[in-house]
Amino acid sequence: MCAKSILLVFGIILGLSHLSLSQDWATFQRKHITDKSNINCNNSMVGNLFLIRGQCKPINTFIYSTAATVQDICRGEQGPKNVASSRSFKLTDCIRTSDRGPPCPYRSDSQDNVICVTCQRTRPVHFVKKGRC
Ligand SMILES: *[C@@H]1O[C@H](CO)[C@@H](O)[C@H](O)[C@H]1NC(C)=O
Repeated sequence: MCAKSILLVFGIILGLSHLSLSQDWATFQRKHITDKSNINCNNSMVGNLFLIRGQCKPINTFIYSTAATVQDICRGEQGPKNVASSRSFKLTDCIRTSDRGPPCPYRSDSQDNVICVTCQRTRPVHFVKKGRC
């Protein structure tokens, strides 16, 4: 192999390890689960967690629940596999209203719904969407 292809392989491995680092249960909890009774999106969508390559994340969903209840969705599921919750949760979408920032202004849209998450080793690691998978 020439030096270029070795570099390419290293780059791919680095990229993949970064991907798996950003998709884990601890990050999922900080990004998507709240113990507040009502989220203020302008205050909650602040910090590196809600930036993608320096830009404000366009949309993020918060789940009003405990970590244990959300983890239950992935009970016994080794995955990776997308699984819908059987119960519905109170949810708030924080939707970016301008990309001037960070910090950027957000509006909120709340509803009750089931959620679809990616399960890996019995833990939610990625929020797929509101509703069924
Ligand atoms: C968030 O900030 C924007 C722009 O300052 C404002 O229009 C909006 O009402 C704020 N939302 C909340 C929930 O405070």
